[in-house]
Amino acid sequence: MSRIAVVPGSFDPVTLGHIDVIARAADLYDELHVVVVHNPGKTALLPLDVRVDLITQAIANAGLPSNIVVASWGEGLLVDYCSQVGARVVIKGIRNQADVTYETPMALVNRNLAGIETMFMLPEPGHAYVSSSLVRQVAALKGDVRPYVPHVVADYLNRSA
Ligand code: PNS
Repeated sequence: MSRIAVVPGSFDPVTLGHIDVIARAADLYDELHVVVVHNPGKTALLPLDVRVDLITQAIANAGLPSNIVVASWGEGLLVDYCSQVGARVVIKGIRNQADVTYETPMALVNRNLAGIETMFMLPEPGHAYVSSSLVRQVAALKGDVRPYVPHVVADYLNRSA
């Protein structure tokens, strides 16, 4: 039986911290689905298809393994995506205590809904302070986002600024 895991998120946009967690997770599972999920609690800056495209390019540019599938999941429950692809594990990056507080209820709901377990993974400490929301803020104020995001994302944000 192949081990399949899902790394879900808004990825608005994908950061170097996300890519770091994706690389680590891809090493542990036979198949890893990176899924851009609509978060009903957030208003996104980038369209869903653009976020998928940027992640796909960033993964290719980083030379990550070919067991990674990039997909999107519009309005439904994350656990339904997991069932569809046969994944029993969700992986989320944890940077600090605030992330644990934010992620824990979602992990418990996903387990109650469908028995999906969540694994928390630590990124490289150098990425621990990077967040998509800070990147959006820096980009909106015309700052340099290159230290925090893959090149394709920095180029996209510069073009659309
Ligand atoms: O990167 P984010 O915004 O913190 O990711 C949160 C996300 C999108 C994974 C979460 O909001 C989600 O799973 N949304 C899909 C709807 C759902 O399944 N909700 C119930 C469990 S939280």
